[in-house]
Order: sequence, then structure tokens, then C-alpha cells
Amino acid sequence: MSQKQFDQKVVVVTGAGSGIGRATALAFAREGATVAVADINETGGAETVTQIETTGGKARFFKVDTTSAASVENLVRQIVDVWGRLDIAINNAGIGGAILPICELDEDTFDRIIAVNLKGVWLCMKYAIAQMLKQGGGVVINVGSALGITVIPGSSPYIASKFGVAGLTRTCAVEYGGKNIRVNGICPGIIRTPAVDDHPTYPDLEKAFLPLHPIGRLGTVEEVADCMIWLASDKASFVHGAMISIDGGWTAS
Ligand code: NAI
Repeated sequence: MSQKQFDQKVVVVTGAGSGIGRATALAFAREGATVAVADINETGGAETVTQIETTGGKARFFKVDTTSAASVENLVRQIVDVWGRLDIAINNAGIGGAILPICELDEDTFDRIIAVNLKGVWLCMKYAIAQMLKQGGGVVINVGSALGITVIPGSSPYIASKFGVAGLTRTCAVEYGGKNIRVNGICPGIIRTPAVDDHPTYPDLEKAFLPLHPIGRLGTVEEVADCMIWLASDKASFVHGAMISIDGGWTAS
């Protein structure tokens, strides 16, 4: 059998039951990785595992709530129990939310978005990196957003969470670069996924967001997954502490 670039590597993808996470899990599996499909949604996670296995890949579903330290610690422990190691952590699980000005947003919405998008990423880094330190290295990729670089009105908790992901990523890179742990993030523009296709505030997604993308179209989950495959590979061995834009030029100006 021919060698693939992630043979022998174990990768965890949070939020792998849908959208960008699912496409990323499929892409890593195609490149030979053993994939921990981690999600709070069992149905979506099981579907991703089925898709991976159908194409001859290796995967298993792990239920996790990334907002809970105990749940994330348990996720990493289970992965190591089953496969003995964890090489690559894709911290992707995230949520959107109501599009309203600050004065009209409620505290619960703010807390929930920060819990999933920011604290969740911090917890996933904390427990994944603890395991990578034992192994002598690893790769971490956090999923930020173009809305972690620029802003639009109405998304204050989401934007705060994604600016925060950039801060966490850069801090983590500075803390662990000397330990052979490479830490980066990506900042997608608008990518067609269930989260955006079903967004209650933007029934006409193309009309609302196309003008923000100079390239003249929205992105696809495969394009984001391809970026993460490269970022996790040795071809990106000197890329560290970066937040890579994959946004069709949205944040170029
Ligand atoms: P999605 O809604 O299709 O998938 C998100 C997945 O995360 C779902 O399967 C959901 O069950 C899971 N999830 C949510 N909360 C969780 C929790 N507490 N614990 C474990 N799993 C949880 O969303 P999409 O669009 O694929 O987004 C993925 C990431 O990409 C998010 O971080 C999002 O903010 C980011 N992003 C998405 C963009 C887009 O246009 N789709 C643009 C920029 C960033």
C-alpha cells in the first residue's frame, strides 16, 4: 500500500459532526490519519465516521462538550487509551448566534458563545498539549474567523470570541514552540455550511456576504480543509503562531 502523509498520525477534530469539521476529518482520513471525530452531536458525528469508513479510512466517534474541562480531559484520555497517542488537534467546534447590537443582546447568549468558541478552544489546547508534551511534539490548529480580524455590526460575542482565539493561538505558540509543538490558526471567510446556510438573520446568504469577498464567491469546506492539511504537514514546518486568512480577500483591505 502506498504511503500517505499522515499514516501513523492520530488527529482529533472537534465539531467534526458537521460543516468544516466534517470536511477536515474526511481530508485527514484520506491522507492516512486515524481520526477522532469529536462532537456534542452524536448523529452528526456518527455520520462523519460512516463517511470516513466508507472510503476506507480509520475513525471513531467521541462525544464531547468542549465547554467542559472534565469532558475534554476525558476525550483526550479516551483517544490515548484507544490509539496510544495524539499528534494533531484541530480545535474547530464553534457556534454563531443572534445578530443584534450589543444593547439588545442578552447575557446568556454572550456567555454561551464565549464558552464554546473561546473557553472550548482553550480547554482543547490545554489537554491536547499536555499529551503532546509527553510524546515530545505535536501540531495544534485553532479555527478562528475573518471576524477575528475585522468586524461587522451585530456579532459582538462571536467577534470577541474569535479575536480571543487569535490571542490564545499566538500566546500558546510562544509558550510551546520550544517544545516541538507547532500552533497556528485559520481565519475563514464565509463558508457554506449548515451553520451559515440555516442562519435565521441571513436567509439570502449570498446577497448579504458576497460583497465582502473580493474573489467573487463564498468559500467551500474543502478549501478550508485543504488549508488545514497543509498547515498540519511538514511543508508548513516553519509556520508557527500564525492566523492564516482563507477568506477570498475579505480582510485584505
Ligand atoms: P457547523 O455548525 O456546521 O459545525 C459546528 C459543529 O460544532 C457542529 O457539529 C456542532 O455540533 C459542534 N459543536 C457545537 N458546540 C459544541 C460543543 N460545545 N462541543 C462539541 N461540539 C460542539 O459550523 P461550521 O460552519 O462548520 O463552523 C466550524 C467552525 O468554523 C466554527 O468555529 C466557526 O466559528 C468557524 N467558522 C465558520 C465559518 C463559516 O462561514 N461557516 C466562517 C469562519 C469561521
